[in-house]
Order: sequence, then structure tokens, then C-alpha cells
Amino acid sequence: MKVISGPASQELGRKISESLKVEVAPVVFKKFPDGESYIRLDADLKEEEVVIVQTTSPPQDTNLVQLLLMIDAAKDLGAERVVAVVPYLAYSRQDKRFLSGEAVSIETIIKLLEASGTDEFLTVNTHEEDVLKKFRVPAENLSAMTLLAEHFKKRGLTEAFSLAPDRGASELAKEAAEILGGGYGWLRKERDRLTGEISVEEKRLDVRNRDVVIFDDIISTGGTVAAAVEILKRQGAKKVYAACAHPLLIGEAQERIMQSGADGIVGTDCVPSSVSAVSVAPLIADALAKRGF
Ligand code: R5P
Repeated sequence: MKVISGPASQELGRKISESLKVEVAPVVFKKFPDGESYIRLDADLKEEEVVIVQTTSPPQDTNLVQLLLMIDAAKDLGAERVVAVVPYLAYSRQDKRFLSGEAVSIETIIKLLEASGTDEFLTVNTHEEDVLKKFRVPAENLSAMTLLAEHFKKRGLTEAFSLAPDRGASELAKEAAEILGGGYGWLRKERDRLTGEISVEEKRLDVRNRDVVIFDDIISTGGTVAAAVEILKRQGAKKVYAACAHPLLIGEAQERIMQSGADGIVGTDCVPSSVSAVSVAPLIADALAKRGF
């Protein structure tokens, strides 16, 4: 068995291979002057079971193409089984036709992953788990919320309230509350389908003089979390932290969240960033071990 750490997940791939005590197959990669990606798998993959780790955070399109090139090359070089580990699955938020004529982007991505030769698929806190039902090959969604909650617990945030910034993330807060023990709740968020503007409805929460951790799958522009932090602070919360699996942190997201009154932001290495303090390597290594790796 071999692990290939894709260009976008070099560090995470190395940690997973160390946990599993398996060899890393070197991958040579570069960008051509016109921006196209070059990939060379520098290993004998004949009849091997191969795990390819490559996140698809920005630049999503480049990272996706590199992933497809690695999967297709591994199969072409004779790999018997290819497991694609894609910690952040790009395009997962466009999982329906919200407006007529829209591309259902995630369906296209799934078709491409299957066409390139993916035999099994693993991801972490994908936006809407049901989307994985569109895969014909086995596909699993892992959750990093327990790891994130344990991070806060180790730092003394026991009995903190776990908050989801919208109904869709309530299961994430519920999972975290099992570790933190201080109960959980959620806010109501609306997004304008044309402008992308969000509005978070103020709702009474049991947070006066309490520490709160906001749990979400993705922090992109930071607008959702910043709105939640402002509500919590208005209602008398003490320390407020933002936690997510996928810290995309686009543009001024970090500043925006801190300026809203947050006391810190913690993410995972599903998306490498300056706040990726929690590694999902043990989570992914366990899931692979259960699959016989
Ligand atoms: C969407 O519902 C997701 O769960 C996140 O809440 C959203 O992607 C965060 O986006 P932003 O940081 O731009 O508000």
C-alpha cells in the first residue's frame, strides 16, 4: 500500500502515512508557464493499493485537475485500488439547482472523480452529506467536530456552549457539545440567492456570562461567523471562539471575525492555513485502517 501526498496536502498526507506506517510515493509536480499542471508519480504502483490525499480548497480548479491527473495516472500505472482522500470537497455547496439553468456543480465533480478511476472516496464535513449518495463507488464523510471540541476542552473551555450559525450546522454543534458538555443551539440564517448576502436572525440564547464556541463546516468570507459573534456578544457571552473544518478564510475574513469581537479562530488542516491548529490525520488514518489499510 502507498500514500500519495498531493501538491495541496503534502503535510497532511505525510502525517497520514506516518500514522498508518506506510510508504509515501513521491509525486513530482510543477506548473507550466501557462498555468497548466504537470504531475509525475515516481513510484511502482503496479497492483498496489493507493491512497491519494489532495484537498481542493482554493485554487480549487488547479487542485481538482491535479487530483484527477493523479488518480488517472495511478490507475494507468497499474494501481489495483485507488482511494481518493479529499479533505475539503470543492463545489459541494452547489448541490442543487437553486435558480433555473444553474450547473449542479458537485454532480459534475463526482462524475469526473469516478471517470478518472476513483474506487473509494473519503472526505471531511462536506457541506451536505447527502451529496455523497450521488457517488456510485463507496463514499464516506468523516467529521472533525469531536477533534475541534477536544482542542477547546484541552484549553479549559469545559461547559462552553456550542453554537451552529445556521440550522444546517446544528448536527456539528450537537457533536461538539457531547465533548464540551455545555449544551448546544443554532441560529437562523438566510442567504440571498442572487447577491449572496446573508442575514442572521437574532434569537435568544442561554449564553450570558458563558464561553461559546461557534462550529461550522466552512469559514469562507467570515460573514456568517462574524454575524453570529455579534449576536452572542450583544447577549452577554464571555469568550467567543469560531471553529470550522475548512478555514478557507477568503480575503479579510480573519480580520472581519476578530473585529466582530471573537477571541480566536481554530480550523483543521483539511485546508492548510494560519489557523489550522487541529490535524485530521488521526481521523483519516483511522477510517483508512477500518478499510483494511
Ligand atoms: C454555508 O451554509 C456554510 O455552512 C457556511 O456557513 C458558509 O459557507 C460560510 O460562508 P461565509 O464565511 O462566507 O459566511
